[in-house]
Amino acid sequence: MAAKANRKQQKYLRLLLNLERLIGNETDLVSIMATVACEVYHAFKDFNWVGFYRVTEKNVLKIGPYQGEHGCLTISFDKGVCGAAARKKTTQSVPDVSKVPYHIACSPKTKSEIVIPLLQARKVVGVLDIDSHRFGAFDSVDKRYLEMICEMIVERTRGEHNI
Ligand code: SME
Repeated sequence: MAAKANRKQQKYLRLLLNLERLIGNETDLVSIMATVACEVYHAFKDFNWVGFYRVTEKNVLKIGPYQGEHGCLTISFDKGVCGAAARKKTTQSVPDVSKVPYHIACSPKTKSEIVIPLLQARKVVGVLDIDSHRFGAFDSVDKRYLEMICEMIVERTRGEHNI
């Protein structure tokens, strides 16, 4: 189990290095989100959907760059796991989506999900949403590194975009 956690951690460290290299000095939000969605999706074979929702108006999330089958376009803050993450401003990890009545099923393949809020000075500007076709795919290692990636995105785009 420890070896598996260690392998996952190594994968995230390689992913972070790749993202640093690919993003370079880029500050454009859509370019960074698209690069992150692509790299995270291809780094983990367990992930069947990786993408962003952006806050475009009060309490409304609109789909942003993503990889995987098509996702729903609009989610309000009072709906879905994405809405819960945006409303509570904390990462939501759902090991079995069938046990969560407010989960919005975009794909019947999805068994577990994690949603990380993008926080800019305590204000939610978007979320990173990842689905897996495996139950319980996300643990504390995923949470730690995915939160780190979201912090990096906000840091890079700070002051450049009104998101
Ligand atoms: N499952 C999400 C909706 C977005 S799709 O997974 C891409 C939710 O419950 O908010």
